[in-house]
Amino acid sequence: MQNTFRETAVIVTGASSGIGRALALRLADEGAWLALAARNAGRLESVAGECQERGSRALAIPTDVADESQCRPLIQRTREVYGRIDMLVNNAGIDVVSTLEDLPDLRLFKQVMDVNFHGTVQCTYHALPSLKETRGRIVNISSLGGMLAIPYNTSYVASKFALMGFSDSLRMEVAHAGVSLTVICPSLVVTEFHERYLDKNGQPQGPSGRAIYTRHTMTADRCAQIVLRAARRRKRQVVMQPGPLALWLKLIAPGLVDRLIISRFLRPAAKRTMDYRQR
Ligand SMILES: NC(=O)c1ccc[n+]([C@@H]2O[C@H](COP(=O)([O-])OP(=O)(O)OC[C@H]3O[C@@H](n4cnc5c(N)ncnc54)[C@H](OP(=O)(O)O)[C@@H]3O)[C@@H](O)[C@H]2O)c1
Repeated sequence: MQNTFRETAVIVTGASSGIGRALALRLADEGAWLALAARNAGRLESVAGECQERGSRALAIPTDVADESQCRPLIQRTREVYGRIDMLVNNAGIDVVSTLEDLPDLRLFKQVMDVNFHGTVQCTYHALPSLKETRGRIVNISSLGGMLAIPYNTSYVASKFALMGFSDSLRMEVAHAGVSLTVICPSLVVTEFHERYLDKNGQPQGPSGRAIYTRHTMTADRCAQIVLRAARRRKRQVVMQPGPLALWLKLIAPGLVDRLIISRFLRPAAKRTMDYRQR
């Protein structure tokens, strides 16, 4: 097992906030050479600065992963600067919360697929030759929603289920070259994700989105710690709680799990959000 990512070249997409930023900071503490990608150049520079202050090398490479013509230069630039790529963390992600029929058209649906699914495929495709040279690692940040569907998130759930299938298939294709593929399925994590998710008109939810979190919700730093431990060990998959129990129950009583998702998760979360708005 690799004990540290010291002097390994790592690309993290979605590194300007949340889990991606937490991963970048932890990797910086270990002395990794970082290539940080996201759309917001200013925020990316600031994360790169934080990583450099921790003693690591860090490049900010503004990239929209939904655009393949920007994914190739991300990979090329990383290779040019560091001479190698040891790990690709496909973490960039967005969500749209709406029923399918309320969407005025399918543009937002396709945007979610383009970022969450095609963004991963595109970065992976262009990085694969370099990852084979180093017997490197691919880490795909999926979601519990990639194994257990929730309503009002059809595009997100579809993108993450697609990511699971893509990952399981690719893992078998690249194993002979010594490249590992780890899938991470977080449950709720405190990040900007829930204030940035889009409504049916493409408007971000805003601060009330954070009302979904409780004091027990996992921090981004704890999530990053779990991701890096799994990547180090080249683990196949990590499903965070309450995923394992819910997945087991779904095998024997899928209808019950559907009802529990609504009564135990969605209704209380919606109530916390409404209470926040009325404050
Ligand atoms: N938070 C949770 O509860 C949770 C649970 C399960 C799974 N996840 C997954 O964890 C991953 C990280 O999300 P997070 O929770 O850390 O949310 P976040 O704080 O909103 O971070 C998302 C990151 O993705 C980047 N991004 C969005 N669209 C992009 C694009 N087109 N190209 C490049 N970068 C893009 C954002 O930066 P820019 O806006 O600057 O591009 C940001 O850096 C996502 O894949 C999400 O599905 C999160």
